[in-house]
Amino acid sequence: MQKLKIRGGKPLVGEVITSGAKNAALPLLAATLLTDEPVVFQNIPDLADVKTMLKLLEQLGCQVERGDHEVRIQASHLTSTQATYDLVKTMRASILVLCPLVARFGHAMVSLPGGCSIGARPVDQHIKGLKALGANIELDHGYVSAKCDRLRGCRIVTDMVTVTGTENLLMAAVLSEGTTIIENAAREPEVVDLANCLISMGANIVGAGTTQITVQGVEKLHGTTYRVMSDRIEAGSFLVAAVATGGDVLVKDCDPNTFGAVIEKLIETGAHIEVGEDWVRAKAQGKPKAVSIRTAPYPAFPTDMQAQFMALNAIASGVSHVTETIFENRFMHVPELQRLGASITIDGHTAVVCGVDQLSGAPLMATDLRASAALVIAALVADGESTVDRIYHLDRGYEKMEEKLRALGGDIVRIKAE
Ligand code: EPZ
Repeated sequence: MQKLKIRGGKPLVGEVITSGAKNAALPLLAATLLTDEPVVFQNIPDLADVKTMLKLLEQLGCQVERGDHEVRIQASHLTSTQATYDLVKTMRASILVLCPLVARFGHAMVSLPGGCSIGARPVDQHIKGLKALGANIELDHGYVSAKCDRLRGCRIVTDMVTVTGTENLLMAAVLSEGTTIIENAAREPEVVDLANCLISMGANIVGAGTTQITVQGVEKLHGTTYRVMSDRIEAGSFLVAAVATGGDVLVKDCDPNTFGAVIEKLIETGAHIEVGEDWVRAKAQGKPKAVSIRTAPYPAFPTDMQAQFMALNAIASGVSHVTETIFENRFMHVPELQRLGASITIDGHTAVVCGVDQLSGAPLMATDLRASAALVIAALVADGESTVDRIYHLDRGYEKMEEKLRALGGDIVRIKAE
């Protein structure tokens, strides 16, 4: 296993280019199952989760040609509509192949993803919606089997806002007969990216990005060439790192319109924030002010930025309250931050963070993707040397993070763990 060795205390200064968004790329790759024509994606990020999804598509029989941040996929001769546990257990987003397979081929058998470290993360809403569209569903031996000659459009109201649930049901609806209305839909930019790609394939979708998405089903979709949106969470993570380390970083090739509440929260820290068309600059103005956050569906503050802001709050001036409302166990970075000297107490879904003058380096262990980013940020601030173990978590969602941080002056190297 590999780990990162970090020596803190140096401000991050310079420019960094944002990669394509993991949480847009995964549903987009699944959408290639909806047509027998070739689909080309540009700006595909080089991430472990993307590699896993491409492996799954190949297992189903898709032709996959990989290029430099580009991939060509053709699902013209599938050999299977089954996503097995061995792959699904490594990446929950594999569930996103369920609806495209049923919509195009009339059947699918997908392993239930099971929980993960941040929560139980059931997929009952995906299944409830697919059933409403007419699929016969069986849950057996840890698999969901779905069959249906042709899905029929209907009105679906999800019990809660679910990002991949909305994406899965959108992919079912585009080939369903008649009209589908998805109420209580997720408004995340990644949902809009998927809708825009499906529209470029010939789908008839109105309302993506709002809480009500209306789809007129079509008989067939055609191929397309599509550029994956930039990763708003990677961009936000670098901006938080800039402010936390007292630096000055220009994040390029991003879309500030997709940042939701993150820009406002960065401004609240007292940093100087400049926003351009496809760039954002964060320049620390002395010690950051502590900012309280409450995660919620887009456009409110994203849960995927909660851990990173907590790392900033750990060394900010003042007390902040960080409330996680989306996942039931997304505070696993707290004990690790405490090992660096952070003063944090957890009261149910709220962490109370009292900013301290200085953190001190220590050996750390990553527990999940965004917690890993938080530990890297905290280690870049801490006095002395830290190591972050189990960085396979980080590699799932950040492309070459240590290289990008080194280019900004961060003292960080990847080493082989003993
Ligand atoms: C997506 O996960 C993202 N992953 C997550 O990013 C992100 O944290 C999350 O949305 C929230 O924004 C991808 O897009 C691949 P949800 P998803 O369904 O779709 C409950 C990262 O770090 N729920 O919106 O799985 C669920 O338990 C990852 O990049 C049900 O109960 O999240 C959660 O409490 C982590 N039943 C809430 O809804 C369902 O059928 C929101 O989950 C579906 C969801």
